[in-house]
Amino acid sequence: MSGLRNRLLVGDARRLLPKMPAASVDCVITSPPYWALRNYDTDGQIGLEPTVDDWVNELRSVLRQVARVLKPSGSLWLNLGDTYSHHDRVGAPPKSLVLGPERLALAMLDDGWTIRNKVVWAKTNAMPISVRDRLACKYEVLYFATRSRHYYFDLDAIRVPHTSNMKHGSEAAARRAAVAKRPAWAGPLAGSNRGLDALKALGLTGHSLGKNPGDVWTYATSNFRGAHHATFPIDLITRPLLASCPEKVCADCGEPWQRQSEHPLAHTAVVGELQPECVCGTGSRPGVVLDPFMGAGTVGVAAEAHQRDWLGIEVNAEFAALANKRIEHERAKRSADRTDSEETPMAA
Ligand SMILES: C[S@@+](CC[C@H](N)C(=O)[O-])C[C@H]1O[C@@H](n2cnc3c(N)ncnc32)[C@H](O)[C@@H]1O
Repeated sequence: MSGLRNRLLVGDARRLLPKMPAASVDCVITSPPYWALRNYDTDGQIGLEPTVDDWVNELRSVLRQVARVLKPSGSLWLNLGDTYSHHDRVGAPPKSLVLGPERLALAMLDDGWTIRNKVVWAKTNAMPISVRDRLACKYEVLYFATRSRHYYFDLDAIRVPHTSNMKHGSEAAARRAAVAKRPAWAGPLAGSNRGLDALKALGLTGHSLGKNPGDVWTYATSNFRGAHHATFPIDLITRPLLASCPEKVCADCGEPWQRQSEHPLAHTAVVGELQPECVCGTGSRPGVVLDPFMGAGTVGVAAEAHQRDWLGIEVNAEFAALANKRIEHERAKRSADRTDSEETPMAA
């Protein structure tokens, strides 16, 4: 399977991942079946285990293979949702959340993953519910996890516009005074804001390319109308893809090209050029993103829209056919749009 790109493999991720070469993908973005929520109607499907801990064990074995196929510079974005218990025997008292995402996250720590973020995906159009003794669930999580402490991450590619407009004057002076000392309440793990404070003291709102998007993302659920009922919204994937799947990697050693970072105090907002860090000198090819639970193929669609390569695995042959059709359709649409814009004469 070495060198495979832009292909969707039909089969069980537990069987196919071990056949992939080690350290061969730059990034994994995936939404595995949540425990006991859907029947994908296929032999080999994950999600219908008798207990939530059985589900954790199945996904844990998939994630061990994911760890193997990821490059050391690579990372994983794992979208998970929870559900409620109906019986003590499943691993939680009836009516309790089973805490499947939390159980899996703890198992991942034991397996050597470093969990860098727990992103909350706040849904703007979550399904209304009729229960009267608890709150409606309006979010899911995305764990962002890595295998090493130093990994590829392109923050400049995902910055968002600043919202505050602080300028010179008394606000900046007050900030300058505050920067001078660490507050008495700060414990040993309190984060440092010194970089940001220094910018604010100079009367700048923040980095010239925009601010860090933070870990609460607000998107509607997908409106893709197909046979698949648990499709990612494409926006949810775009940020992880741009941050974690390099646009260019060395064609020889596979090391990601790095962005020459813009100086935060620069007055013009120009995204830095990508440059190789290795000495191979053999040119570049796109980074590759893997989704071992490909469903309707959203990761492939997003990857092609942003000139990345992709690889998918899906156990249900009908969904795989649907995903291939969707990816081809989006590819043809982009190519027609390009032809149109080339043929449209420039306005005088
Ligand atoms: C939540 S959906 C993924 C949806 C996908 N993110 C999208 O945007 O369409 C989970 C998918 O995993 C597939 N699946 C379940 N068990 C699997 C297994 N053992 N190997 C590979 N795929 C599996 C299901 O058929 C389903 O399509």
